[in-house]
Amino acid sequence: MKPINYGRQYIDQDDIEAVVSTLQSDYLTQGPKVKEFETKFAEYVGAEYAVAVNTATAGLHLAVLALGLKEGDRVITTPITFAASANCVRYVGGEVWFADIDKNSYLLCLESTRELIESKPKGFFKGIIAVDFAGLPIDLEAFRELANEYDLWIIEDACHAPGGYFIDSKGVVQKCGNGNYADIGIFSFHPVKHIACGEGGMITTNSKKIYKKLISLRTHGITKENMNENHGGWFYEMQELGYNYRLTDIQSALGISQLAKNKEGLERRNEIAAKYKSYFKGKIKFQELPKDHYNAHHLFVIEVNNRKKLYDFLKKNNILTQIHYIPIHYLPYYKKIGYKEANLNSSENYYKKCLSLPMFPSLKPKEQLFIINKVLDFLKIN
Ligand SMILES: Cc1ncc(COP(=O)(O)O)c(C=O)c1O
Repeated sequence: MKPINYGRQYIDQDDIEAVVSTLQSDYLTQGPKVKEFETKFAEYVGAEYAVAVNTATAGLHLAVLALGLKEGDRVITTPITFAASANCVRYVGGEVWFADIDKNSYLLCLESTRELIESKPKGFFKGIIAVDFAGLPIDLEAFRELANEYDLWIIEDACHAPGGYFIDSKGVVQKCGNGNYADIGIFSFHPVKHIACGEGGMITTNSKKIYKKLISLRTHGITKENMNENHGGWFYEMQELGYNYRLTDIQSALGISQLAKNKEGLERRNEIAAKYKSYFKGKIKFQELPKDHYNAHHLFVIEVNNRKKLYDFLKKNNILTQIHYIPIHYLPYYKKIGYKEANLNSSENYYKKCLSLPMFPSLKPKEQLFIINKVLDFLKIN
């Protein structure tokens, strides 16, 4: 049997044709496919603006720059996320502060975040990076209220959750990255995610000012608008220090084709999750879905006592699970700059037990049953 990875892209003939047709077109980069992808993505998540970038990591970097984060500024996030969610703060010399997760949803805990904020004078923190971990949308309405009290911005790291949503207190569907409660949303198009571009990312926002800043920073800080001088049609100005964080037209063509299938993919992911839950209920702890949330299910995480043993047992059976995530403050780089085991009990306990089982739309029912049976077999003897 071929190994079953925890995540996998799904590429069909339409995707291949979209890429080939762009390869045969006039533009491999900086052409019409980028704009088309941005427009369709903004529409899909319900945001005013979208800016395509070459990775979500680049997107996070531009997001903190666009929000004016500077050396020494402090930002709160969860330790249970990919390192990139925190690293963007370090890129500009900022300090990362961790609040704990909720032990059932595994999302950044509102109360722990409030406690951290209230333990310091007002103005101490600049913002919050809230993560839709595993595809479960975080309640940004509640975080916005807290952020407004303390003048904080919010970046929603929605890398795991395109198409996920929660229903707010007014009964309105709030799709991840729609920018209604967060200032900026970030998505990733790495192949294990919902929409695969090889590498790629998208930044969404409802602020025209932030949008313009992102567009400038994505391409070296170069502009042809509002120039101090104009010496002719060729002329441009580099008005600030930016980067080359552009997504190509080839990747955008693939992204457009993948986006068109995202709804189907989400339905399949939710079917897979429902099946895992039906077999594991009462036997194994898994991520709890708060009421009125639609989980985009990038991951399906379980918690078990003999995690390492189960990981090795499944690997022997060609089932390649993964750990999401090693808490960020445990990573050697963060330890080196002074982070230690902290009072983050739920995060640290979660890390001892968590394991992500295979979750991707093309997972065959027979393969899923094989995985479920192996997990249950293991539990019987351990
Ligand atoms: C939560 C989260 N944020 C950010 C990223 C970074 O995404 P990328 O690989 O597109 O830079 C990832 C990627 O795994 C992620 O899972």
